[in-house]
Amino acid sequence: MTLITFRKDATDGKARTGVLSTPRGDIRTPAFMPVGTAATVKAMLPESVAATGADILLGNTYHLMLRPTAERIDRLGGLHRFMNWDKPILTDSGGFQVMSLAALRKLTEKGVTFKSHIDGSRHEITPERSMEIQKLLGSDIVMCFDECPALPADKTRIAQSMRLSMRWAQRSRDAFGDRPGHALFGIQQGGLEQDLRAESAAALTEIGFDGYAVGGLAVGEGQEAMFGCLDFASDQLPQDKPRYLMGVGKPDDIVGAVARGIDMMDCVLPSRSGRTGQVFTRHGVLNIKNARHQDDPRPIDDACTCPACTKYSRAYLHHVFRSQEMISSMLLTWHNLHYFQQIMDGMRKAIAAGTFTRWQADFHANRAGGDI
Ligand code: GUN
Ligand code: ZN
Repeated sequence: MTLITFRKDATDGKARTGVLSTPRGDIRTPAFMPVGTAATVKAMLPESVAATGADILLGNTYHLMLRPTAERIDRLGGLHRFMNWDKPILTDSGGFQVMSLAALRKLTEKGVTFKSHIDGSRHEITPERSMEIQKLLGSDIVMCFDECPALPADKTRIAQSMRLSMRWAQRSRDAFGDRPGHALFGIQQGGLEQDLRAESAAALTEIGFDGYAVGGLAVGEGQEAMFGCLDFASDQLPQDKPRYLMGVGKPDDIVGAVARGIDMMDCVLPSRSGRTGQVFTRHGVLNIKNARHQDDPRPIDDACTCPACTKYSRAYLHHVFRSQEMISSMLLTWHNLHYFQQIMDGMRKAIAAGTFTRWQADFHANRAGGDI
């Protein structure tokens, strides 16, 4: 029994719009989830994140288990209360972050052992432990514990890894148990191989999940290869459940993924770029560090309603970035998150209206303009 439901309201081609309802609130899809790895979306107050239009945040098992620990967060009333975010939270399961961040990783059938990137202490994550941690955190959408092989890898290695992830998916399902109001998502693996993706989708569907993620993409294969894989991967997953593409992406990746049937995504790009001076706009990317902004009284985007654009000039944003003032990260992160949510809102409305093809053409035409 689960109190989380997915309602598909409209489709346009392969693109879908709907609502994923949870006891902590509705998630309008297609949804973009800002990343709040360490119980904060860096440089943003939670109410500001909500003001950008986000319905849900992503948190990380790996980081939070190491610091401040899942047990401490549980004692303090759970992750929502701890970080002052009362809307839904999805947590990733830890394996992917272990592989990219931890030292001395050892992978066995049982799980993975590793040394913390923070203090070198030894830890183990198994599917059972990942489910326990995500329960202690109190996350609304729990991800299966999986392994994502680094690409390129040969097909035998990708197949072995995918089958291990499918055995871990069954163990995750068993350990998760019955938690009304909380959802468990499976994660499809299989690299770029159509037959392995099909095998993975069949294994996950047989186990049965509340939603299905496409994992193992956006790991350096390039947009064309990723889209080629999504062309078949999303069709292999159940039509009536949300589909989540993990770790994607740039604005044009997001639009292309939605066009291929994806409902949810997450990426550090808008928040991380906000701290490095990279600004995403309707017309393309702008780097606020560039000296050409230093006397420019115009906003980043005169049509954007975020605080950075309605209250500040490019000259000011350039100045505070160059001066390494904290407000630079705050304003640019806000703008980037706002822009990503505007894209999602535009897509939801266009899909509902049956005008998604034209919306996509306008999206791409706007970005062809050159200097911004
Ligand atoms: N984040 C980006 N890709 C992946 C993946 O394949 N698995 C998990 N668990 N997280 C991811
Ligand atoms: Zn703005």
